[in-house]
Amino acid sequence: MNPNHLTAYAKALLSEFLEGEGRIIILSGAGISAESGIPTFRGPEGYWRVGSQNYKPQDIGTFAMFQQQPEEVWKWFLFRRTVCQQAKPNAGHHAVVELEQMFGDRFTLITQNVDGLHLRAGNSLDRTYLIHGSLEFVRCGAECTYNLYAFPDGIAPKDRESDLSPEELELLRCPNCGELTRPHVLWFDEYYNEEYFSFVSAHEAMNDCTLFITVGTSGATNLPNQLAMKARHEGIPFFDVNPVENRFSEMALKSVRGVHLQGPSGEVLPELVEWLKAKS
Ligand code: APR
Repeated sequence: MNPNHLTAYAKALLSEFLEGEGRIIILSGAGISAESGIPTFRGPEGYWRVGSQNYKPQDIGTFAMFQQQPEEVWKWFLFRRTVCQQAKPNAGHHAVVELEQMFGDRFTLITQNVDGLHLRAGNSLDRTYLIHGSLEFVRCGAECTYNLYAFPDGIAPKDRESDLSPEELELLRCPNCGELTRPHVLWFDEYYNEEYFSFVSAHEAMNDCTLFITVGTSGATNLPNQLAMKARHEGIPFFDVNPVENRFSEMALKSVRGVHLQGPSGEVLPELVEWLKAKS
């Protein structure tokens, strides 16, 4: 491990946070799961093939595509779910669990990841906002109710080429109305809301935030940008953890009190946690 990610300035901001009573918010994206072997969205492995055509997640992960080709959309999400199920939480996820253990109600995790690894690592659902949903739940594709259902048992792991059996398709039917269910994820042509995606709660958590940390996200989505903008404009200490420069590292550096901790989250977050533990 390279123990040199925390600059003197970052340590000063962390000390200030420790002395106060405000909230630490971790806003995570696909990059925190990259070290668990889950491909990021905008990396090279994100494509999906239907017939002779290649689709990007931005094309396949839409309600419009689900209406046209529901089985193809389910096949892509079942393949992705299989990859996520086979992955294990990494040192970055474990460090986020330690932060929750250290700070309790002063801690909120806002994650764009639908892979379930934060909760499997040990973060609590109460303090975690799943702002893009979760592959652990399905809901009615025809929205007969707003109910979420646990992902059904009995569906075999899938690779890119796997088809769905008629029995598996039956398992994916809505228990209430019998229409096909859909993955409980926010698609590219859909909007955030409080009911499914904790839109208001995520904003409210910012009200007493005194340390805002973005981790492993390219900054391409709307709600994360709104939260980051708020951190920047209100002068909330803003750390970005990412091996490369990105929209959020730029925002952090432009904010009055921001730093870019440039490195993989599986190294940077444990270092940050060790430093906080030693100080508190
Ligand atoms: N540690 C930290 N960050 C990493 C690591 C790592 N080991 N490896 C890669 N990254 C960074 C990349 O540099 C990139 O900035 O993670 C980021 C991943 O970006 P995206 O693939 O765009 O993922 P994300 O920001 O989570 O996407 C947001 O868009 O596709 C939709 O709904 C989907 O939730 C997703 C959202």
